[in-house]
Amino acid sequence: MSTLILAIESSCDDTAFAVINEAYEICYEKTASHIEILQYFGGVVPESVSREHLQALWPMLEDLKKHINLKDLTGIAFTQGPGLAGSLLVGSSLAHSLSVLLRIPLLPVHHIVGHFCAYLLETKKPLDHDALALIVSGGHTQILKVSPQLTVEILGQSRDDAVGEVFDKVAKHLGLGYPGGPMISKLAEQGAPTYALTMPMVHKKTLDMSFSGLKSQTIRAWTEHPSKKEDLCKSFEETITETLLKKVSLALESHEVKTGVLAGGVAANKVLREKLQTLFQEKKKTLIIPASRWCTDNAAMIAAAALYHYHDLKKPHGGKIDFIKSQWSIEDL
Ligand code: KG4
Ligand code: ZN
Repeated sequence: MSTLILAIESSCDDTAFAVINEAYEICYEKTASHIEILQYFGGVVPESVSREHLQALWPMLEDLKKHINLKDLTGIAFTQGPGLAGSLLVGSSLAHSLSVLLRIPLLPVHHIVGHFCAYLLETKKPLDHDALALIVSGGHTQILKVSPQLTVEILGQSRDDAVGEVFDKVAKHLGLGYPGGPMISKLAEQGAPTYALTMPMVHKKTLDMSFSGLKSQTIRAWTEHPSKKEDLCKSFEETITETLLKKVSLALESHEVKTGVLAGGVAANKVLREKLQTLFQEKKKTLIIPASRWCTDNAAMIAAAALYHYHDLKKPHGGKIDFIKSQWSIEDL
């Protein structure tokens, strides 16, 4: 019987389903975005988002059944955490029910491992050596060393706000709406870096980062000199990108790796993608960047992680599986 994994991702503001086969090819993909409710509130309100997930499930399942015979599925993957508890519970409950009904293995996945494994959707072939990963999302900013067995060492991370969160908060202050990243990068295309913003923590020999000060600096710059939003966006995007580049460069100096992976929602940012690619080329190393649609939250990355991690699906996950792990460090896999 050939492998066919259904993955359900519901950790934040999207309800997403994807089905992939053993070659990491996508057989089905659908996402219900709850962006309008977030735009209405100007950010994530956990209770209302979980209600949106619940309402989306039934029509999503009906649509899935039109394209995939559920009896052909060989595993059900789901995002177990980290994420919003109520949202995770919705996806997790459906995954548990389908696994019992169809008598197929339940495959829990860590959301950030999912982001990392998005590279498999590009390469279709797993790495056989350690990779250096830069994960930049709404909740995480981490530099990781990831082994082929998916054991993870956190080399550095933000001590406060995540990069995506800072994009969102600056955008909110500028009245650009939610999510902030795409809006800021669009405006930045027409701007010049005229605002002098300082890169945080780049003179320290640590791979840890801090972005909350840069957020305040940017908001203060606008309050004191409200000139062209495009220019502020350009200055902000450039400062944040250069800061990340400096930290990755430092990581490459102190860790022997030949391959890098850029992942997470902010990895959809064009400037970051281009500049990081150039850095890796200069250092004669390979950088894998998934297509933008697999950088922001999606279920295909969760399916890819499950396919890779539980490749021997004849051996179901042993023991009792927790429904969710809302707070879950990637080092505790
Ligand atoms: O990974 P993701 O979809 O959700 C989380 O797991 O957090 O990341 C969402 C974050 C948001 O903060 C959003 O503003 C940011 O990714 N983002 C971007 C871009 N597209 C999405 N940030 C900068 N530039 C973009 N083009
Ligand atoms: Zn994410």
